[in-house]
Amino acid sequence: MDSWTEHAIRRPHLPDRATVYEVGPRDGLQNEAERISAADRVRFIDLLTDAGLPAIEVGSFVSPQAVPQLADTESVFRGIRKASGVRYPVLVPNEKGFDRAVAAGALEIAVFTAASETFNRHNINAGVDESIERFRPVAARARAQRIRVRGYVSTAFGCPYEGDVSAEAVREIVHKLLDLGVDEISLGDTIGVATPADVYDVIETLYDSGVSRGILALHFHDTRGTALANVFAGLECGVTTFDASAGGLGGCPYAPGASGNLATEDLLYMLEGLGVATGVSLPRVVEASRFLAGLLGHRPPGRYLAAVWAAQ
Ligand code: HMG
Ligand code: MG
Repeated sequence: MDSWTEHAIRRPHLPDRATVYEVGPRDGLQNEAERISAADRVRFIDLLTDAGLPAIEVGSFVSPQAVPQLADTESVFRGIRKASGVRYPVLVPNEKGFDRAVAAGALEIAVFTAASETFNRHNINAGVDESIERFRPVAARARAQRIRVRGYVSTAFGCPYEGDVSAEAVREIVHKLLDLGVDEISLGDTIGVATPADVYDVIETLYDSGVSRGILALHFHDTRGTALANVFAGLECGVTTFDASAGGLGGCPYAPGASGNLATEDLLYMLEGLGVATGVSLPRVVEASRFLAGLLGHRPPGRYLAAVWAAQ
């Protein structure tokens, strides 16, 4: 007998509820070769709303040269049905993006920087500290207008240009964002290199520095198949917000080697099995992904979706 077999299996203590933050219309579509019309993006988002998702990132107000796929986010934002109590954030890189978001009527924005200098320069043409200075007026104006602000920290688990990223580097940028007054921080595994050991390390470092679990979200790309294991590690640490993309599409055009996000369906399947409530209908997310797959002309990479297809 060893320590595993002589005792009853001890199940980890997990949160009862989790929030699924849907990034398919933004992270999912920004990396697709096929450009989807504004009308079809509206339909896709309306289907995600019907599925009961509590937060749906609608698109981005970045330079249309940088991400042409999302150039017409204004029309998409204005066209979608906004269900009461559902958050519809948009990505904003600077004050120009903020002006566009406000003009469209956004009530929540997401600014984005990184834990590594070189990726940030490729992505938004600014060093990390420079990006914080860019966000300062954006965050101040958002606060004055009661607009909620999410702050993304990309490359929190590894950088496509610099390799390993330390938990201390993540802690530093997280505190700079908190000093700006952001409401939520999403830690991005931009290129999908994290394992659960890295998740424990980064979250422990953040908790030790006084960060509270309630403001954290985890954003995993599934490049190496570790995204669900990483979510499980996050749940064990008490994190309750997880980003995911319908069908598992996604990737940052400025992060070579990045593949899709953790698929929303795969996340929901695991959370349901664990008894973690989300209020989201898995079959209705499948419906939204199937609608999108018909437009893209290829099957999205999500595993649950593949199982549904195989069973038909
Ligand atoms: P820049 O060239 O340094 O910007 O780009 P600039 O201020 O010098 O302006 C250049 C031109 O862009 C000007 O136009 C501006 O008006 C225009 P021109 O005078 O040449 O005709 N411009 C804009 N147009 C519309 N909306 C704007 C805007 N800003 C400037 N907001 C910039 C800097 C940040 C604009 C650019 O690098 C950019 O747009 N980058 C966005 C890149 C991006 O969207 N990446 C993907 C999202 S991040 C991600 O996927 C990671 C995440 O999922 C988490 C994770 O996985 O880790 C969030
Ligand atoms: Mg991403």
